[in-house]
Amino acid sequence: MPIPTIHVGCRHFGHGRLQALVNCKGLEPVACVDIDVEGSRVAIGTLTGDVPADLADRVYTSITEARQRHEASVCLIFASTTAHEALVVESLGLGMHTLCVKPIACSQDEFRSMIAAHRKRPDLMLVQGQNKRWNPAAAKMREWLREENGIGEMIGGECRFWIRQNLWTGKDTRQPDAFVEGLYFHAGASHQLDQLVAAKGLPAYVTARVHKREDVELGQTGVWGTAGGNALMEYANGACVSYAGTRAGHANPFGWSGHWTFQGERGDIRRDAGHLQLFRKDECVEDVQLQDLHAGLIEDDRIQFDALADAITTGKDRDWMGHSLDTWVLMEALNASARTLERVDVGALRASLFA
Ligand SMILES: NC(=O)c1ccc[n+]([C@@H]2O[C@H](COP(=O)([O-])OP(=O)(O)OC[C@H]3O[C@@H](n4cnc5c(N)ncnc54)[C@H](O)[C@@H]3O)[C@@H](O)[C@H]2O)c1
Repeated sequence: MPIPTIHVGCRHFGHGRLQALVNCKGLEPVACVDIDVEGSRVAIGTLTGDVPADLADRVYTSITEARQRHEASVCLIFASTTAHEALVVESLGLGMHTLCVKPIACSQDEFRSMIAAHRKRPDLMLVQGQNKRWNPAAAKMREWLREENGIGEMIGGECRFWIRQNLWTGKDTRQPDAFVEGLYFHAGASHQLDQLVAAKGLPAYVTARVHKREDVELGQTGVWGTAGGNALMEYANGACVSYAGTRAGHANPFGWSGHWTFQGERGDIRRDAGHLQLFRKDECVEDVQLQDLHAGLIEDDRIQFDALADAITTGKDRDWMGHSLDTWVLMEALNASARTLERVDVGALRASLFA
């Protein structure tokens, strides 16, 4: 039986996620929430597949109202970033497993408030939604980083990310990513580095810097920490992974997944989007072309939603999915380092956020 689910945020990015929810087998939309009810009804009318007949008539302006009228045990949140904290706290308070798209929080205060709400209901899952860890190419890179058939102990690695992203949403309006300080690491770099956290967990220490970039055409007006950044992440075994990324570039040579190399005791990895190669002793022992990001990321999120349903019903990967919050911790550690120009102890920051 699919799990009855409330979906928050029906237009723009959320619209594709609603399609992913319709497409998935483990969850089922029973009600929607959006402050724009009429716009949401129109958006629901364009969904395809097995859409519940009267879903467009079940759009509410608050999660509380939706939950009062419909039985549901999961809530998926895809509203604007600045609304996440209140929505996550409300959803957990109503007793629902909650997945909120990255960045789940804009500040340490917001993050702590969600952790406090979660502490009252530790039986519920709280997940920071990410999509780029879920496609077959990302799963293969994770397998080679973690499993017996891969590179063995990681010695080092690097990731490059380089795109030109327009942050304007209208003549005078921009995504929060353009004006909330620190949202480059939280909303841009998190897509690549979540894949590192998913495979190797948190590094012990980080050092980072942010780019200063003004490009009005892109909505980049030089707000601190919104354009790009560089980082060095040191793991407990001494392995370092370096990162160089921008979403305010002059071209779009790389996709959102990032381009990667890793060196290990027993092999090396090279990944360019869906093309992955594993090298051992001068030979390429595996060379595969796999599905990387799906158009509109709909299939990536469909896989994520089915994994969430599985984690709730069978417990499979439940802890691992819960550790998606660690990606937020890592991004915050990078911002902390870039602000203070200091090397940051990630474990200590994590402990203070979960205290
Ligand atoms: N690849 C990705 O994972 C990816 C890509 C794009 C956007 N996002 C994230 O998705 C989220 C939504 O982005 P967007 O550009 O669609 O945002 P948006 O501002 O267009 O909002 C999306 C929807 O949420 C609704 N909404 C806003 N505030 C609300 C509230 N308080 N309660 C209920 N509904 C509310 C809006 O009416 C709209 O329909 C952001 O957090 C963004 O970072 C993720």
